[in-house]
Parts: sequence; C-alpha cells; structure tokens
Amino acid sequence: MALTLDARALLQPAQAGAAALEPARQAVEQAAQALQRGALVGLPTETVYGLAADADQPQAVGRIFDDKGRPKDHPLIVHLAGATAEQWQAGVAHYARELPDFAQQLMQAFWPGPLTLILPRKPEVGTASAGGQDSIGLRCPAHPVAQALLQACQAIGIHGLAAPSANRFGRVSPTSADHVRDEFDALLSDDELLILDGGPCPVGIESTIVDCSRGRPVLLRPGMIGIEALEAALGQPVALRDQAAPKASGTLESHYAPTARVRLMPQAEMQAALDLLGSEARHIAIYTRQPVSSASRHLLLRYMPTRADACAQELFAVLRELDQPDTRLIWVETPPADAAWDGVRDRLQRAAA
Ligand code: TXA
Ligand code: MG
Repeated sequence: MALTLDARALLQPAQAGAAALEPARQAVEQAAQALQRGALVGLPTETVYGLAADADQPQAVGRIFDDKGRPKDHPLIVHLAGATAEQWQAGVAHYARELPDFAQQLMQAFWPGPLTLILPRKPEVGTASAGGQDSIGLRCPAHPVAQALLQACQAIGIHGLAAPSANRFGRVSPTSADHVRDEFDALLSDDELLILDGGPCPVGIESTIVDCSRGRPVLLRPGMIGIEALEAALGQPVALRDQAAPKASGTLESHYAPTARVRLMPQAEMQAALDLLGSEARHIAIYTRQPVSSASRHLLLRYMPTRADACAQELFAVLRELDQPDTRLIWVETPPADAAWDGVRDRLQRAAA
C-alpha cells in the first residue's frame, strides 16, 4: 500500500488555518526526505500527477522506468523550483548547457506554468532522467504543493525532480491522488511510494512541450498553452514536430488509452449508430457535447463541457469513469476543430488510436 498524505491546505494557505497547514507542511517535508533516500513521490501539479524521483539519483530514476513499465529511452521531464525567476534560472543553469534567447522568452512568459522546454543538456547531469538523450526537458510547475515540495527539496540539496505522469505506460494520466493510488497501490509499499494529495489537477492535460534544442522552437506536444500564445510571446512562428523530432511517449500514436476501445465520431454518426442498435445498445459509454437519444437503458452517458479548458480539466477522470469493467466501447464526439481544442483533440486521438 502506498502512503497518501493530505497537502491540500497548501492550496489556500490564508483560508486553511494553522491546524491544517502544519500537517500539510510536515507531509511535504516527509516527501522531500523520502525523495532524498531514493523513494518515489506522487506529485500533484497543475497539469497531471507525476511520479517523482530525485533527478540526479540514477537508481531512483531507474525505478520510475521499472514501475511505469516505460521504455528506458523515453526521457523524463525534470521539474524545477521557481519561487522567483532567479530560482528557476539556477535550476536551468544546473541542467542546461545552453539557453537560447527564444527559450528564455518562453520561460519569462509562461513559468511557472504548464510548459516544458527541451534544452541541450550538460553531459554530467540528469543522464538517467534524460533517457540517454543529449537534451533535457525542464518545467517549472505552478501548483502550490509541487512548488512547496521543490522548495523543500532544494533546501536539502536536490536540484530537480524527474517526473513523468504517474500512470503505467500507455494508460490514462492521473489527475487526482486516488488515480495515482489506483495505478501503483498493488505494486509499491508505503516506504517505496508516498503520494501527496494536492486535490484535483486544475489544467487536467499534460504540459505543452517545445523543443528549444535545435536552433528554433518546435512544438512537440500540444497542451493548454496553445501555439498562438507561444507565437505571441515569441514574436516568431513555432514549427510543428516533424520526422526529426526526438521520440516522446506522449507523441506515440497510441497513448492515454483506457481498457475499453475509444472511438471518435461526429454527433450525427453517433446518433445514427444508436438508432440502429435501438434498445440493444449495451456496454457502450458516451461522451458527447451535443445531445443524443437512445432507446437503450444501458448507456453510460456523460456530457462534454462546451469550453475546451473545462473539458481538459475533467477529460482523464471522465475516461477513467467511463472505462467500467463492462464497458467495451467509449464513443466520443469529435471535438471542435479550433485551436483552443488542440490539446484535448490530441489526447482523444491518441486514446482512440
Ligand atoms: O504536464 C506534464 O508534463 C506532466 C507533469 C507530471 O509535469 N509530465 C508528463 O511527463 O507528462 P511524461 O513523461 O508523461 O511526458 C513527458 C514527455 C514525454 O513524451 C517525453 O518523451 C518528453 O516529454 N521529453 C522529456 N524529455 C525530453 C527530451 N529530452 N527530449 C524529447 N522529449 C522529451
Ligand atoms: Mg505520460
């Protein structure tokens, strides 16, 4: 059994009061010490929960790969403390060999926040985290619990936390402490994994990733910081990933997959299929923006929010919820074509692949 400690009081310290804050701070201290002795921590961030280790302890980082079942050549993102710009700059200087101006502009505009930058790596640091690449993915998360933990880590000499999403390889990413427990409880004991409960993740899908290691910005993974926002901050175009882009598990065609088969389709097609099946429709879960009707009493139905940010926030929790033992198919209405939906559309296409 993994150990879960409640750190939610840190989300709104002013409202929480000393009686709730003190145990939350102790939980964070305990997590920092666990990381120092090589254990793993379930780390709440604004995007999804991460499975974190000290980025400079190769053995601890190796356990992340083993426990997730992740191929060893898929690099991890290293998370940095960033109470001030000076602090994240120190973290970047520890890991990165070079910092192009355009990367610095992106950090100034979006850190702390849901943006990961790939930078050329200093050869002697974070080697295990980088999965053998000569680059390193760096992100300064905005979540108060993540930042509290990164601060506590820095105070005891830990420069960064390597953390992929805390799901087994290829599965749906976790957006709550319960999801992390569901993924790893059977696998890890409480001195191997400590989960910090920081509440539900407010963004809900993984960070936007921009490769800054090859002379110009290239978008590797869409997220809730969209390409227009990146281009506006840079005053130059951002290229889309091509064949030369480094391998990234979030960019594999099939990923984020529930056990049931996911299919994307327009609402009209979904309605036609439901009409055809009539009262016989069974083992089907539906996630749609526009209403559908069915004569079947066995459908599991969830309505998709009309705003992309609200949909992103609930997306992975909804996929988990619809993925019941007796669900065989999850039919999802194709999300709108506009750029605000890029991140959600990307995750759904991979879930369906
Ligand atoms: O929002 C997020 O990014 C979450 C939270 C926990 O921070 N993390 C996350 O990690 O999504 P993960 O491992 O599930 O996805 C990280 C992606 C992978 O596709 C990985 O291959 C890519 O980042 N990546 C990391 N370092 C890289 C590098 N040096 N070069 C290319 N891709 C890299
Ligand atoms: Mg992942």
